[in-house]
Amino acid sequence: TDDILKNVVSHAKEYGFVFPSSEIYDGLSAVYDYGQLGSELKNNIKTYWWKSMVQLHENIVGIDSAIFMHPKIWKASGHVDGFNDPMIDNKDSKKRYRADQLIEDKITRYEKDKKLEKAKALQGDLDEAVKSDNLTRLKEIIIEHGIVCPVSGTKNWTDVRQFNLMFSTKMGAMADGSEVVYLRPETAQGIFVNFLNVQKSGRMKIPFGIAQIGKAFRNEVIARQFIMRMREFEQMELQFFVRPGTEMEWYEKWKETRLKWHLALGGDSSKYRFHDHVKPAHYANAAVDIEYEFSFGFKEVEGIHSRTDFDLRQHQEFSGKKMQFFDPEINQNYIPYVIETSIGLDRMFLTVLSNAYHEQDLSTAEKKDQRTVLHFHPALAPVKAAVLPLTKKDGLPEKAREILGDLKFDFNTQYDEKDSIGKRYRRQDAIGTPVCITVDHQTLEDNTVTIRHRDSMEQERVSAKDLSSILQQLTGW
Ligand code: GAP
Repeated sequence: TDDILKNVVSHAKEYGFVFPSSEIYDGLSAVYDYGQLGSELKNNIKTYWWKSMVQLHENIVGIDSAIFMHPKIWKASGHVDGFNDPMIDNKDSKKRYRADQLIEDKITRYEKDKKLEKAKALQGDLDEAVKSDNLTRLKEIIIEHGIVCPVSGTKNWTDVRQFNLMFSTKMGAMADGSEVVYLRPETAQGIFVNFLNVQKSGRMKIPFGIAQIGKAFRNEVIARQFIMRMREFEQMELQFFVRPGTEMEWYEKWKETRLKWHLALGGDSSKYRFHDHVKPAHYANAAVDIEYEFSFGFKEVEGIHSRTDFDLRQHQEFSGKKMQFFDPEINQNYIPYVIETSIGLDRMFLTVLSNAYHEQDLSTAEKKDQRTVLHFHPALAPVKAAVLPLTKKDGLPEKAREILGDLKFDFNTQYDEKDSIGKRYRRQDAIGTPVCITVDHQTLEDNTVTIRHRDSMEQERVSAKDLSSILQQLTGW
């Protein structure tokens, strides 16, 4: 783990954004809990996605399907047979790794050491082996490039084997009579199996979309980079149903729309890029990732997939129910094609947090000074405003609470009267609060307050009765 990520992780814990799950029992690998500020930030990211995908599109509706589904669904979708990662064990350390990940790490090391030719050649070898599902070749590459076990440093590897990523459990009171069910590894299937319910009840006409936010579970072979690769995580997915033959047009359109969604948060556009898949997942005929440049390199945050009619056709076959749409414009029945956009909420959370995190040097000739500030987009900030009485006496706390009382129904606010005003500003900077509202003696005379802005640290005097509209403008969508 690099130093910047380390700082982000410890900041996230110190200020109540993300905690390791079950920490008092020494944690549970690749599972995390969101704290008081983390859950606010997560909710704001969900709202941003839901508003822009569902509320702003007349032809997209949202659902909330169950995590447990009929086990046949995962047979039909191909996940029982094909949702695997190639794993390899080191015989000395007894540690398990993803074979492709070990090779990717080697590519990153070559790139870091400026051995670009070697990196390119190795990437080519990896792509070819992955494309042809050649497990023997993956092992050969690991041996040829002298890839060692990160823990023991030894080269004593087992063969590469496929490992299914789905968690299973049993439904029903009696262990023997009950049926094996899976924890869904993607939310998408809940949309596909409800395709007809939504289309009919909502009188939807193609092209139209169904969106969903929900938990997904994968028994990842190796957990890494904080909330990037978790065993329990959340997805925000859209399945967009289109007329066959128009799918590539929609694929391009959704690529562009989704990149704009990321950039609208004000991030640096050079930190985003598209990465085409050499071997799309078993359900897709084209796939691209939107990658963000973290401190540990460019990594996938979102996937856009052309899923053809694969899923609906499979469900038609396995369930025996027709998965067709009658298109009145061309007078034809067909199984729609699907473009999917799928973003990991937790990865988006890490993108937002990494983008926002800054250690800023404010030193002057006279005085050393530093602050840690989270430059969240104001609409995403967990706390929108803090109300701070300058002192704890003279009726200032009462006045501050009165102002807070007027704002708290519309905005998530905090009240703080402890420590010097400078220290309180810094505490709010560290959690990314866009504005601090300071109540002083003048407030009691003319009902004005000071607003201090997080990013510029500039202050202005405004009337307390205008605060609500000022905050609405600054932090609204
Ligand atoms: N329905 C398509 C699908 O699930 P995917 O590329 O496997 O596609 C989509 O996953 C997104 O879900 C990824 O881009 C990533 O953001 C997120 N994701 C996948 N596995 C994850 C994990 N183990 N931990 C956190 N996020 C994950």
